[in-house]
Amino acid sequence: MKTNLSERNIRSFLNKENEPRSITVFDGIDSTNAYLKRNVRKDTETGTTVIADSQTNGRGRLGRTFYSPADTGMYMSVVFRAEDIGDISLITIAACTAACRALEDTAGVYPRIKWVNDIFLRGKKVCGILAESLTDPQTHRITHVIVGIGVNISTKDFPKDIRDIAGSVCEKGMSREKLAAEILNNLIPMCKNTADSDIIDYYGEHLMIVGKEVEYTLNGEERRGTVLGINEKGNLTVRTNDGGEDILKSGEISLGSKNFV
Ligand code: BTN
Repeated sequence: MKTNLSERNIRSFLNKENEPRSITVFDGIDSTNAYLKRNVRKDTETGTTVIADSQTNGRGRLGRTFYSPADTGMYMSVVFRAEDIGDISLITIAACTAACRALEDTAGVYPRIKWVNDIFLRGKKVCGILAESLTDPQTHRITHVIVGIGVNISTKDFPKDIRDIAGSVCEKGMSREKLAAEILNNLIPMCKNTADSDIIDYYGEHLMIVGKEVEYTLNGEERRGTVLGINEKGNLTVRTNDGGEDILKSGEISLGSKNFV
C-alpha cells in the first residue's frame, strides 16, 4: 500500500529558519537509521531527513528492535554534522526534549521522559530515540550523528513481548506529517544549541522517577538510592541510602526494569 506521508505536507508545517534541504519519504524500509548509515557522505548536510511509513528492522538501543508497523507510527532519522552539534554527549537529551515537546504541542498530551531516551505516556512507552555516530575510518573522529526517533501514534496490536510496556499516543491517530515537522522544528535548533538551559530544564521537569527509589548497577556493584534529577551534563543524580550522591552516566549503568512499571 502506498504511504500517505508526503514531503510537501511535512514542509508545510516546518519553520523556515531550520528547514532541511533534503527530506526523503519511503513507503517501507529496513530502518531509517540504517539507511542513513549506508548513505551519508562527507558532504551530507545537517538536517537531512529520512521518514518511512513502516520499517522491517526498526532498531532500538542496546541491540533491541523497534516495532514499526505501517500507517500507525512515525519513524524518522535526521543527520547532524559533528561540527554543527553543540555538545555531542547531550544529543540524546536534546532529541528526547524535542520529541517530548513536539508531542505535547501537537497531541495535547503530557508525556514523561524515562532517562535517557524513552518517552512514556499513561505508564507506557510511546517513543524511543536512537542516536548513532559515524566516524572517519582514518582519523577515528565522529563526522556525523544520526538521530532516529520512533513514535507509536495509534498502534494497537503490539507483539506479545512488548505488549505490557508499549503504548500509543492517541487511539484516533493524528497527522504524522505535522508531528514529524514539529519534531524537526524543535530537534534541529536544540541539537545545534545543546547548551541552551531550557533543554535541561524541560527534560528535568518531565523526568519520571524523580523522588523514587531505584536499584542500579554501578561499576559492577548493586546499589540503591533516590533519584534527585539530572545535572547539566545529562547524567542522572541519585541520593544513595548512605547519604552520598551517585552520578549515573547512560551506558555505564543499568537500572532495574521494575523501576519503570
Ligand atoms: C529505543 O527504543 O531504544 C530507540 C528506538 C528508536 C526507533 C527509531 S524509528 C526511526 C529510527 N530508525 C530505527 O531503526 N530506529 C530509529
